[in-house]
Amino acid sequence: MANLSNPLPNLKLNDGNSIPMLGYGVGTAWYKSGDAGKIDQGCIDAVKAAIRVGYTHLDGAESYRTEKELGTAIKESKVDRSKLFITTKVSHGIEDPEATLKKSLKDMQLQYVDLYLIHMPFFSEKPEDHQEKWKVMESLKAQGLTKSIGVSNYRPEDLKPILDIATVKPAINQVEFHPYLQRTELVAFHKEHGIATSAYSPLSANTKASPGPVDNILASLAKKYAVSEGEISLRWCIDQDVVPVTTSGKEQRMSDYMRCAAFKLTPTEIKAINEEGAKKNYRGFWKQKFGENNWA
Ligand SMILES: NC(=O)c1ccc[n+]([C@@H]2O[C@H](COP(=O)([O-])OP(=O)(O)OC[C@H]3O[C@@H](n4cnc5c(N)ncnc54)[C@H](OP(=O)(O)O)[C@@H]3O)[C@@H](O)[C@H]2O)c1
Repeated sequence: MANLSNPLPNLKLNDGNSIPMLGYGVGTAWYKSGDAGKIDQGCIDAVKAAIRVGYTHLDGAESYRTEKELGTAIKESKVDRSKLFITTKVSHGIEDPEATLKKSLKDMQLQYVDLYLIHMPFFSEKPEDHQEKWKVMESLKAQGLTKSIGVSNYRPEDLKPILDIATVKPAINQVEFHPYLQRTELVAFHKEHGIATSAYSPLSANTKASPGPVDNILASLAKKYAVSEGEISLRWCIDQDVVPVTTSGKEQRMSDYMRCAAFKLTPTEIKAINEEGAKKNYRGFWKQKFGENNWA
């Protein structure tokens, strides 16, 4: 049975900062495709609900066009800024990450973020492009505009040129990660270089990639721990030192996910999910960039 008094764990990053091991995202379901100036009250209300039920790690991005909503929700929640861990990301604004971060901070009504990520590596035509942008990221940290710096959707070949010149190594790489996309080579590379892994789309195996070979294991573990399959998917990340970032428009679900703080999977259970998960491949994002047979 879940013990709800347990707090969510934090993961220590290579720069000494700590990240709460469950994030609430304002992308995917909240992504704004229409008029960016039109405020999405549903998104504001959802982030406020997330903060209310205990999420302190909030994941935004320039490209989601919901930074104003994120900032309004934080302000209206009246929660101490120092108790929150706020991430945002640069993508379209990669030409000038400093101006882009300053605009994001203005939109969020914040003085700094806890983590600033380069959203994707695909802007780069040569290794030096990664190196040039990473030097700008280091300067943003030095200026105190962000506490930590990292990347998202990077592969080892994108990380290597950065590691060659970094004074401050990337703290984290946020990538698609779930039982049907275990990224074993990438995660091993991260471990070798002290880079933390964060998982987006962590619920894929029990949502959009279901049915599949882990269905029965997720169901039996959900029964054993008196939680839902979603919490098993999230805990499967946490117990492998991977920081899941999820989202929901439903307060009950947001609250249920917090129960993943209250139990731990055994190594045998993790192994069983990994072995069954490896029998199917599913990628929801960036299929055209990774190619059909690249599951690393
Ligand atoms: N760096 C990147 O490139 C990148 C890419 C994608 C995402 N992200 C980040 O990660 C966050 C989460 O991504 P995600 O949405 O893909 O993650 P996810 O946690 O795997 O999926 C969350 C979605 O699953 C739905 N869901 C949950 N349980 C369900 C169930 N039992 N049946 C049907 N639907 C269910 C939720 O809908 P309800 O609202 O109905 O609960 C929600 O829309 C994003 O918001 C964003 O911050 C980053």
